Amino acid sequence: MTLTKASAPGKIILFGEHAVVYGQPAIAAPLTQLRAWARVSDGQKPGVYISAPDLHEEHWLHESDEDDALAFAVRLVQQAARLPALPPLHIQVHSDIPIAGGLGSGAATAASLIRALARHLQQPDLARDERVAELTYEVEKIHHGTPSGIDNTVVALERAVYFVRDQPRNQIEPFKVARPMSLLVADTGVRSGTREVVDDVRRRWQAQPQRFQALFEACGHVARAARLALQEGDGPAVGRLMNENQVLLQSMTVSGPQLEQLVRAAREAGALGAKLSGAGRGGNMIALVDERRRISVQSALQQAGARRVLHTTIA
Ligand code: PMV
Repeated sequence: MTLTKASAPGKIILFGEHAVVYGQPAIAAPLTQLRAWARVSDGQKPGVYISAPDLHEEHWLHESDEDDALAFAVRLVQQAARLPALPPLHIQVHSDIPIAGGLGSGAATAASLIRALARHLQQPDLARDERVAELTYEVEKIHHGTPSGIDNTVVALERAVYFVRDQPRNQIEPFKVARPMSLLVADTGVRSGTREVVDDVRRRWQAQPQRFQALFEACGHVARAARLALQEGDGPAVGRLMNENQVLLQSMTVSGPQLEQLVRAAREAGALGAKLSGAGRGGNMIALVDERRRISVQSALQQAGARRVLHTTIA
């Protein structure tokens, strides 16, 4: 029996969340410690069986809901491969990325499934990073409504990217940092749906277009400066820019009491900078740390109520 596997990482947004939906640049990086895995094997009975215990899903493809993201991903691969029917298959998806935590769990599960299925069906073109990113984007629309495209890009490429949403093609620039940057990723434990927060920001932008446009542009400014600071390996400058970005996100109303508490605790314990990451109002925050301060910032975050603190390096 052939078994085909693929995985995809979670992601963190370093700069520019929300503003990226409105055409401003953003920077994101893979979070390789948390991953989604898909395994595709030949089935015993006709039909495609999808099993994703971490997402509480167990069903046949033909019985799945219209808006089921995994089933949608399977159908997309079938269409893209121009296959009139699929052979009997058993698809298993596992993920240790928390759902609604701002870490790209939806994009990673879709990307791992799309890549594993494309390989299993011997469609090497569909298993290429760019194609996986494109197909994952279609699935992201179910979770997000109007995704910018940054999540699917970073999880498919598994590299830090500078991203600008654009027509007809997004600007996607993988980049290298001069010196590895150490980040702590802390979970507030508060779950927050990306779609709801993105929709709320849109309503506020419609109600106060000039004010929100200015906030988005200021985020764009910060992201451009951050890219230079990252490329130059200037940690203190990156940290200051994270703090500036956090002020703008607060003004957009997407921070929240638990996020603020963790951001404050990290800064007081000596982090170079701290901000929320992802859609906000819950989920995760990130803190840039000097290696010497890593342990003290980590314990300060735990004492301030973080459910989990991960360490990652942007290289
Ligand atoms: O999926 P999340 O919660 O990490 O947030 C995605 C980032 C947003 O900028 C808020 C939305 C988007 O599509 O870029």
